[in-house]
Amino acid sequence: MAPTVPAFTPLQASLWLTLCGRALDNRLPLPILGDKMADEIVRKVDYDYKKLRIPSGSVISIAHRAKKLDEVAQRFLARNPDGVGLDLGAGLDSRVLRITPPPTADWYDIDLPEVMAARQDLLPAEATPHGISADLTGGAWLDSLPTDRPVVAVADGLIAFLSEQEMISLVGRIIDHFPSGEIAFNGYSTFAVRMQKIVPVAKVIREVTKFPGFNDPKTPERWHPKLKLAREILCTREPEVDRFPPFLRLMNRMSAPSAAVSRLGNTILVYRF
Ligand SMILES: C[S@@+](CC[C@H](N)C(=O)[O-])C[C@H]1O[C@@H](n2cnc3c(N)ncnc32)[C@H](O)[C@@H]1O
Repeated sequence: MAPTVPAFTPLQASLWLTLCGRALDNRLPLPILGDKMADEIVRKVDYDYKKLRIPSGSVISIAHRAKKLDEVAQRFLARNPDGVGLDLGAGLDSRVLRITPPPTADWYDIDLPEVMAARQDLLPAEATPHGISADLTGGAWLDSLPTDRPVVAVADGLIAFLSEQEMISLVGRIIDHFPSGEIAFNGYSTFAVRMQKIVPVAKVIREVTKFPGFNDPKTPERWHPKLKLAREILCTREPEVDRFPPFLRLMNRMSAPSAAVSRLGNTILVYRF
């Protein structure tokens, strides 16, 4: 018998969008990410992903941004094998299995208690080397983390659900806790905020999104004096576009020359401190 679909609040249930997006990418003839574990979980709980009405363009965006964030974390931990990786708002994602960090690094997945309980039920233990059940808008979750090792913190799909002030405090607490590191997340533009109000796929998260969005990738530099933009990844210019279906590939190729147009789509922002 299939395990029952965990009972989540609308905020927690936002994880189905990204999980199902990655699962559906895995079923494509040419997957962008190829996340077999996401596919396995969706099949295991027999989740009715059709009700989310995720368009094929969003499936690819979700998979693509996960791949780019994987690369940021993987490269950081390859350069800093004693480092600490954090997946902020990890949902049911098994990122650590995709990036296989060096054995000397430590990986932490953080999400709300109900989500972390579901991870234990649905994911193999190796997918959560260290799990922290916590509300990221509080500070206590950092107490058990080392203070003397470099950190890479990735937040895939989290930013939309925090207010700007909550995001600023979260970033500030990470910077004040660790000696150095990188913080990376998918960009959330004011255009994306406007689209959320109208596109059907965003219906399930509309009531729980709070972030106002920003367009200038340097905006977060104002959040903390130590925070500096290290890299803006415009996904239209990334090599995976070659594997996109023809229409999406064409749209990306046409957008790629303009940073402003590219920012209307998928971007990954990487900051260092
Ligand atoms: C869109 S989902 C993304 C999940 C995962 N990163 C992925 O890519 O599948 C957003 C996640 O952020 C978590 N989240 C939102 N606000 C949070 C908070 N204040 N503290 C901890 N987790 C939070 C939700 O529970 C959910 O799992």
